[in-house]
Amino acid sequence: MIHEPMAAALGIGIDVEAPEGNMIVDIGGGTTEIAVIALGGIVCNKSLRIAGDDFTDDIQEYMRHQHNIKIGERTAEEIKIKVGAALPDIEDPPIDFIVRGPHQMTSLPMEIPVSYQEIAHCLDKSISKIEAAILSAMEQTPPELYKDIYNKGIWLTGGGALLRGLDRRLEAKHSIPVHVAEDPLHAVARGTGISLKNVDKFSFLLR
Ligand SMILES: Nc1ncnc2c1ncn2[C@@H]1O[C@H](COP(=O)(O)OP(=O)(O)OP(=O)(O)O)[C@@H](O)[C@H]1O
Ligand SMILES: [Mg+2]
Repeated sequence: MIHEPMAAALGIGIDVEAPEGNMIVDIGGGTTEIAVIALGGIVCNKSLRIAGDDFTDDIQEYMRHQHNIKIGERTAEEIKIKVGAALPDIEDPPIDFIVRGPHQMTSLPMEIPVSYQEIAHCLDKSISKIEAAILSAMEQTPPELYKDIYNKGIWLTGGGALLRGLDRRLEAKHSIPVHVAEDPLHAVARGTGISLKNVDKFSFLLR
């Protein structure tokens, strides 16, 4: 066993044994893990039960509330991927996504174009909770490691890292650079593979 954020850090290519602080924010389906890593250990770890699946729930709820349309989880997930956003102004805006489904009351078929701005608005609350958790992790980070993170920035991994504009939103909120890991969906798997292939080197990471 290896902690998910540690595996993610290895998978991104971070030197986890260095005497420097690194912050990893892994936004998965069910949980967001925020970890500060230094000297091969997790210095500070926060686990939050708000992540990608909550974004999907938010979208389902929003469509029901705002547009009177019933959509399933799969459609909400598709909306999240096609027009999901964390900011109401992004550089390469996606075109509106056309949602089809029955009206809640009349059951008549409806077609509604959904913009990324709407989704940014509807995800705002959940994203704010992630921001608050990052802030609180920062506050618990020892000053020397805080300084490293401040200089190098935060690494985002997990599927949630793919949400448009999330990096820019967190950057603005925390005044710290935010990087999205290359291929964030597979960082944990890659890191686990690296640790298993180098068991001698990383045995201290395995439980
Ligand atoms: N392009 C995308 N934009 C936004 N969210 C996405 C995108 N692609 C995938 N996701 C979301 O990422 C989440 C899955 O991410 P990941 O595979 O990192 O989670 P997990 O490791 O399975 O979950 P957990 O860490 O909570 O156990 C899902 O909620 C999925 O909808
Ligand atoms: Mg995960």
